[in-house]
Amino acid sequence: MMSIQDTFGRKHTYLRISLTDKCNLRCTYCMPQEDMQFMPSKWLMQADEVEELARIFVEMGVDKIRLTGGEPLVRKDVGDIIDRLGKLDTALTLTTNAVLIDEYLPKLKDAGVKSLNVSLDTLNEVQFKGITKRDHYQKTRDNIALLLSEGFTVKLNTVVMRGLNDHEVNDFVHLTLENPLLHIRFIEFMPFSGNQWDMSKIVSHNELLSKINAEFEFRQLMAEPHDTARRYQVDGAAGTFGIIGTVTHPFCSGCNRIRLTADGKLKNCLFDTSEIDLLTPLRNGEDVRPIILSHFHKKHFAHGGHVGFDDKTARSDYEQNRTMIAIGG
Ligand code: GTP
Ligand code: 5AD
Ligand code: SF4
Repeated sequence: MMSIQDTFGRKHTYLRISLTDKCNLRCTYCMPQEDMQFMPSKWLMQADEVEELARIFVEMGVDKIRLTGGEPLVRKDVGDIIDRLGKLDTALTLTTNAVLIDEYLPKLKDAGVKSLNVSLDTLNEVQFKGITKRDHYQKTRDNIALLLSEGFTVKLNTVVMRGLNDHEVNDFVHLTLENPLLHIRFIEFMPFSGNQWDMSKIVSHNELLSKINAEFEFRQLMAEPHDTARRYQVDGAAGTFGIIGTVTHPFCSGCNRIRLTADGKLKNCLFDTSEIDLLTPLRNGEDVRPIILSHFHKKHFAHGGHVGFDDKTARSDYEQNRTMIAIGG
């Protein structure tokens, strides 16, 4: 079978498709401007184009597809897209803020989705409104509970920022004690265009471990191939916690990710700004396979972490990158 390999021998089998740059929340680290100019809808891949590109990637060896946004569920035809992708021979999953999950639960089940990643940075209602600028805390919590009661595995993604939510780390760890379907992943805050990133705002992997160690006994779990997180489990807990050390413990050597932006551009790395348009050639009836292969042949070993986010060159690099909301994470 054809596979999407780079010159370092990494096989790319995990496709992240962003469906929209819109969102029903306004977390500033992800969407820096409240009055953001969204992509005009004619730029977006249509449902049939998403399906066609996904099929091509599956033929080229992709075995896992993640839908992202913005918030993927705000897109009006997301139900149709989930139906279409559910029929492909690949695992399907989503990264979502869960605000609209109750509306889509039956569709997700029909499409064979088993596990979802849900973004939640705080367990405090007032703080939630402060971070997201919206009043959807209770809805989010209810929908997380709904997912768990319906048997979905839920990984909570918590971006930890110094002085904002770092005092809540152990409250999140508490959530993992009872439910085997619930896992928490603490994420080191990453720099993207306009998001006021600063090294001092990061709470590092090691610092997180010492905070948790002050309250819990835990052990490290075996690493899974291509995992972004180092995983741990509190003694006797049912669920696990993980740390995605994007800045202090980059995971580029195991990278298997392909990113497709909502406007159909291929990114070979979260931090690579040399995007290649797949949508225009697809619309012109061209074969996009050689374009994909050649773009991955040019993939660098690493951007971001290994270059050093502190470095001035790296800073100009990520200021030229898209905002997180326009990439999809
Ligand atoms: P799993 O498939 O459950 O392992 O999820 P995931 O970690 O691939 O995806 P998710 O959308 O939940 O992202 C969690 C965090 O990891 C987010 O902050 C992402 O931006 C970050 N992340 C995901 N992929 C990459 C990557 O390739 N490089 C870096 N540096 N960060 C990534
Ligand atoms: N740094 C780290 N993670 C981020 N996310 C969004 N912006 C950032 C950032 N600057 C996370 C979201 C979501 C995932 C796709 O990426 O919380 O869970
Ligand atoms: Fe892959 Fe780039 Fe992320 Fe490294 S920084 S894991 S190469 S996407």
